[in-house]
Amino acid sequence: MEQAVGVSLVALTAAQAIWYRLGLQAPFAYDRDQVFQEHPDWRVTHNEADGPDITNVLIYGASTSVALYAAHMVRLSADSSGKAIRLYGVASEARWESLKTKPYGYNAPVEYRDLRWSGRIRELTGGVGIHYAFDCISEGTSVERICSTPARNGKVAIARSREGRAWKAPNISVKPSYGAVWEGLGEEVEYHGFTVRRSPTARGFAVAFYAWLNGRMDSALSPAPIRLMPGGLESVVQDDFQLLVAGGMEERRAIRTEPWMRPVSAEKLVYGI
Ligand SMILES: NC(=O)c1ccc[n+]([C@@H]2O[C@H](COP(=O)([O-])OP(=O)(O)OC[C@H]3O[C@@H](n4cnc5c(N)ncnc54)[C@H](OP(=O)(O)O)[C@@H]3O)[C@@H](O)[C@H]2O)c1
Repeated sequence: MEQAVGVSLVALTAAQAIWYRLGLQAPFAYDRDQVFQEHPDWRVTHNEADGPDITNVLIYGASTSVALYAAHMVRLSADSSGKAIRLYGVASEARWESLKTKPYGYNAPVEYRDLRWSGRIRELTGGVGIHYAFDCISEGTSVERICSTPARNGKVAIARSREGRAWKAPNISVKPSYGAVWEGLGEEVEYHGFTVRRSPTARGFAVAFYAWLNGRMDSALSPAPIRLMPGGLESVVQDDFQLLVAGGMEERRAIRTEPWMRPVSAEKLVYGI
């Protein structure tokens, strides 16, 4: 149960980015034509015939819990499509060893604190660029940098928006796609000062995703590591809100010395209630 509670929304967040928005092949069926009717610009437009045999995928913020699921999903896409995928990740060096192992299998991690990472990624792809990118941080300059890595007609998804809109910046040539996980509910939701529109298509995808996941947790998707936190709901306010803060990642600071208050890295916080 403790591992399971760390799966539901974060795995759907990753699935919406990797399978629903970017359109990598999912290991289950859902109505893709309906998705394209609602979002015509999500159609895969890069011509796979003129690309290399290998599809290049990049995940920025590879040690976030969203990214742990996203990387595993990229690997599942490679298995279900039979196509080779080379997975590039941007994360702190301390996480590289574990990110290279299964189920993530990153081929080439690079350090996020070295702001030359986007140039390094372009070099590592031999100039081809990235076909599918997912920015799991979407703060500071990450969106602009990740948007400098795509191959021709490559696609970018982001995890955070500005007031519900994907990022716009003068020097971004790719239009990143954004969605809030709550759209999986299929109802209109007020979130971070904007309205997540009712989308039967997003609802259909969420239903298909959970139907696939149901009963398959041991074989289909490895739960991300968890940190079991002391206390119950009252501790969510006094501990969790301090650890995760209301703003962005850059505002997170180690402010307390208890072992469970160390910075969150490659794990989910779990409470018993
Ligand atoms: N769209 C949605 O519906 C939705 C749903 C859920 C989450 N989100 C968003 O997705 C993002 C990830 O959420 P999460 O809960 O998975 O995060 P998380 O697990 O709490 O992220 C912590 C990790 O982020 C890494 N990190 C911090 N700053 C970074 C940077 N500048 N560049 C690269 N990596 C950095 C840290 O690495 P180190 O420890 O190595 O420094 C740490 O491992 C958040 O922005 C969240 O708001 C969106």
